[in-house]
Amino acid sequence: GAPVEADIGALQVGEKMTVEWRGKPVWILKRSPQQVAELPKLDPLLADPQSKRNPDEFTPQYARNEHRSIKPEILVVVGICTHLGCSPTDRFQPGPQASLPDNWEGGFLCPCHGSTFDLAGRVFKNKPAPDNLPVPPHMYLSDTRLLIG
Ligand code: FES
Repeated sequence: GAPVEADIGALQVGEKMTVEWRGKPVWILKRSPQQVAELPKLDPLLADPQSKRNPDEFTPQYARNEHRSIKPEILVVVGICTHLGCSPTDRFQPGPQASLPDNWEGGFLCPCHGSTFDLAGRVFKNKPAPDNLPVPPHMYLSDTRLLIG
């Protein structure tokens, strides 16, 4: 499939947009500086906090960092659960869900079998999904234009 371009110039903090790439939803989420700063605190709760597992498949070199992204505030991931392929839903606010950790800063919840992911698409421990949400190959064409693929 051809690469797709995304204009993120209007994306506000806390907003997520979706573009389709190779028939898959690619999420682009703008995180707040505070949300980015909180990410390392979740490491002990995560299955693969440093994204070391299958890095060639799930995390390109330029996203192998605490925020799993090129720009700290902009997350780019494929929105498909690594368990059996459902699409997780946004859980940006703490809620009554018993399955979410106390210090939940937001993330994604897979409705199929309950896998939870943080705001860097990293999967929590002891969930059915084996891997973090994949970071697709991407680059910035300018400050506000992303090329995915
Ligand atoms: Fe997401 Fe099973 S498909 S937890």
